[in-house]
This record gives sequence, C-alpha cells and structure tokens, in this order.
Amino acid sequence: MTTENRAHWLAEEQKLDERLYEAMNPGGEKAVGRLAKQNKRPVRELIADLIDPGETFFELSRLAGFGVDYPDGIDDVPCGGVVTGIGRIHGNWTMIIGNDSRVKAGTYFPITLKKHIRAQAIAENCGLNCVYIADSGGAFLPMQADVFPDDGHFGSMFYNMARMSAKGIKQVTLSTGGNTAGGAYIVFMACQAVMIDKLAYSFLGGPPLVKMATGEVISAEDLGGANVHTGISGGADRFCGDQAEAIEAVREILSLEPPQSINVHRYQESPPAVPQDSIYDLMPAAIHQGIDVRTILETFSDDSYFIEYKKNYAVGRGDNIVAGKIRIKGIPVGVIASNAVGIIFVEAARKAAEWIVRCNQEKIPLLFLQNAPGYMVGSESEHMGMGKYGADMVRAVSCSKVPRVQLVIGPDNGAANYGMSGRAYRPDFLFSTMRARTGVMSGRSAAGVLLSIEERKRESQGKPMSEEEKENFRQKMIEKYDGEAHPFFCGSRLLNDAVLKFGEIRDWLGMAFEVSLLREIEDPSFGNFRF
Ligand code: COA
Repeated sequence: MTTENRAHWLAEEQKLDERLYEAMNPGGEKAVGRLAKQNKRPVRELIADLIDPGETFFELSRLAGFGVDYPDGIDDVPCGGVVTGIGRIHGNWTMIIGNDSRVKAGTYFPITLKKHIRAQAIAENCGLNCVYIADSGGAFLPMQADVFPDDGHFGSMFYNMARMSAKGIKQVTLSTGGNTAGGAYIVFMACQAVMIDKLAYSFLGGPPLVKMATGEVISAEDLGGANVHTGISGGADRFCGDQAEAIEAVREILSLEPPQSINVHRYQESPPAVPQDSIYDLMPAAIHQGIDVRTILETFSDDSYFIEYKKNYAVGRGDNIVAGKIRIKGIPVGVIASNAVGIIFVEAARKAAEWIVRCNQEKIPLLFLQNAPGYMVGSESEHMGMGKYGADMVRAVSCSKVPRVQLVIGPDNGAANYGMSGRAYRPDFLFSTMRARTGVMSGRSAAGVLLSIEERKRESQGKPMSEEEKENFRQKMIEKYDGEAHPFFCGSRLLNDAVLKFGEIRDWLGMAFEVSLLREIEDPSFGNFRF
C-alpha cells in the first residue's frame, strides 16, 4: 500500500539520490576516461577493493561542497573533492580518506579541509586506523589565505597524523598521484607509505619550481617518484607497480592489527518485529506535524523492543520527550526522543537530563532522536524554570562521557538543538534525514521577527510598509530561512556527517554505535546542576 507519506518521502529521497549521483560522478564518463589514460581508477573503486569483500563502505558527508560560491566561478566542489568514510579492513573499522583528482586535481578548498579534518577527528575520537589515498595538487591556490596558515587549515592534517600515530593509531598513505609542497607531508608523515611507479610523486617543490629556484632541470619521476622515495630518500616504504598492487600492500600492512572490541556487552542481534520500511508511512510529510516516536523507534530497534523510562510522568508535557532503552544490532542504547510536536516542556527537560545522567552511570551510549522546534516559551514556562531546566539538559549533554549519536528527523531549532546534542555538543556522529530542518527558528517564525523589526524601522523613517511589501518581505524571509535549514544546505556545509534515507537508519546507527564504542568510556562527572 502506498500512503501519501510514503509517496512523499520516496520522492524526497529520489531527489537525494540525484544530488548524490551528481556529487559522486564529477565530470562524468569523460573524467573517468581521463583517469583510465593515466592508468588510474576512480577513488571509490580503489576503496571498494581496499575494504573487506562484501563489506559496506559508510561514506560520510557526500553533500559537502554544493553551492559554495568560491572564487574563479566555482559554485560546487562535488563531495568537497575528497571521499571520506568508514569500512572494515581485516575485520577492523578503518577511516579512509581519499582525494578525488577529478575535482580540480584533488586540491584543498576550505570545505575539503573541513571534511578531511572531521574524518580525522572521528578516527582520533574512536581510535580508528586511517588510510589516506593521496592524489592532490595541494592547496587550491586562489584561496591560499583561506586554506593555508590557520589552525584547521592545511597544516592541521599533518598535525593530526603525528598526534594520532603517537597514540598508536596507524596512519597509512597510498600515494597514487601528485603530492606537492605541503601535500608531500601526507606521504612523509605516514607510519608507512606506499608509492606507485610512474604515478605517484612527492616533493617539496615540483620540477617548474626547482628550475626557477636552482636552475636544475629534472623530471618529476627523478625528483620524487616511487623509486626515489622507496630506494633513495627512504621517505616512503613500499614500491608498487600499479594501483591493484598498492591496494594489496595497504591491506597487508594492516593485516596484523589486533582485533577491535566494543566497550559494552553486546546481546544477540535480532531484526525489528515490525517491517523496517513502515517508517515511510509513519513519518508525516508535513514537517511540523506531530509524530508518535515510539512507533518510529520500533522500526529500527531489535525486536522493536523499547523499555520506557518514566512513561506515566506528566503525560501531555513530560512525554514530549520519550526516554528509555532499545537495542540496535545487539548493542544496548539509551534513547532521548522528541515526541508529538516535540516542544520541550519543563517536565520533559528534567526527565531527559535525569536519563542522560543514568545512562552515563550505566555507561551505555545515547541516541538523540531530534524533532524539537524549541523549549516551551511564555510566562508559565519561564516561571516554572524552563531556562534553568533547559540549561541542566544542556549541561548533562555537554558533560556526558558516553558515545552519543544525534539523528535529526524533523524541526531542529533554537536551544532544543543544544539540549538534544547538536553539532556544537560534539556527538560522536550526527546524521540527518530529508525531514530534518536545522535552523535558529522556522522560516515562518524568523519572517515574523524580522518583519516586526523592519516595520518599526520603516515607521520611524515615516515610510510605513504596504500590505504587499509586508507579504513580499515575509515570503522572501521564509524562503531564505527554510532553505538554509534544508538537509542539502546543512550537508553542503558539513553540519551533519550524512543525510540518511529512512531505510538506512538501522545499518548506520549500528555502525555508529559500534565504532564509537571502540573508545574507553570515562567515569561521569557533571559540573553544577541547578535542579
Ligand atoms: N590550485 C588551483 N588549481 C589547481 C591546482 C592548485 N594547486 N592544481 C591543479 N589545479 C587545477 C588546474 O588548473 C586544472 O583546472 P581546470 O580543470 O579548470 O583546467 C585542474 O586543477 C586539473 O589540473 P591538471 O594539471 O590538468 O591535472 P593533472 O592530472 O594533469 O595534474 C597535478 C595534476 C596535481 C600533478 C598538477 O595539477 C600540478 O602539478 N598542480 C600544482 C601542484 C602544486 O604545485 N601545488 C602547490 C600548492 S601546495
């Protein structure tokens, strides 16, 4: 049966597919043909061979870089010019970061750096070994001031490699193209580097610069090719004849890593009792329509089993957040989920803060299912202490030590973004869906606020707005604020780690909790609550 909701979300996810196809195939067949002439395959094909056969590559941030408005008429940097994601190598979850040389020779734009560094941060946080597939022209030179000198710019990539390797997190580089100037450090900083004959080059200055600086005329191969660095300089460790051989070399380097294990008891995995795709019928097409979140949880939890915390507490207000425990692929997970229209009342905030503390005490990870347009406003709520109880929730989230994953399934506005573990609160992973709308307030509310300011201004100038002007102003603001809250806009700026289809939620949450539970969970310690 096709419900209206299902038809709506399938159409929305079709738009997502189209956007992703565009992002993942820059330059089309022509660009693949150009690579083939250089004896290279597209970076995703290399990654497919690098990970264990039949395993999924959980590719992150594929919407990064759309609509960036950079110099030289660059509006889009497909996928940010770099592929990042998590897959298993010899059974161990590994972070893979690969330049896509089809996007401006794999050069680094600000969004490329943000994506590369976010992937490194996940790897460092969770203790994942990293493989870099390096093929880059280095900094995108027209934007050098925005990518070169600052913290979070080019140098941070190598700073991260050094610190991670000091922590015992392996850094392996497979160089399959140019690595010039600063980019050469991706080879030389690695614990082990693999270079490919007559494809990979690594030097502090390329042949044109060398000629200019010293007068020496030399080919790229003789200056810094695979033979030079594996045979003469010692800056790289494995010489390979082609890409296929290089992939095997990286797998061999990582073949004797100790097997990973998660820091929580894992129960027998079982599928949900209800059809997983019933979520498509349950999610209202209208973004601000209330949801029954218990039925949503059933679509992706093991056995559709949910142990609810404080179910009878302040029904109608306290249950605008539903709390409890589920299992996902055998992993026990604490849940804080927006329910109904999601506005957070005092009782809901108190219950959420309490549950966050209890899950920390038990050391089980937390899932925040975000569908909240904000905390309740008005004198009744303020006098009851909405501010301080909201702050307690924010404090509990901020000081939480257990892994946290946020999944946005609806409105995500105002301070509710904070209390429900938004990006600034550093959840281990943050996923979005096509129903998500992340913005300071809804387009309608923002338009109302801005219109009242504009009206006052115009009145003080003696030029009051006509009804038509007001309506035009309102529409323009709604379009702007709703547009900026859309998952495409947020994804392009890396405000989430992936935009998931509803049908993908269970697999991605399973991966995210497994990966984030590889790290040790510290004992809880929560500053000063107000209570
Ligand atoms: N900054 C800005 N644009 C760059 C760039 C850079 N560092 N490196 C390459 N590009 C652009 C090229 O202008 C070209 O743009 P176009 O498609 O609009 O014409 C595109 O990227 C592809 O470059 P191209 O040279 O055609 O690709 P290639 O596969 O033949 O060679 C390199 C790749 C990386 C070997 C070569 O581009 C190169 O040497 N780049 C300069 C490297 C460098 O000195 N970087 C120092 C900065 S740290």
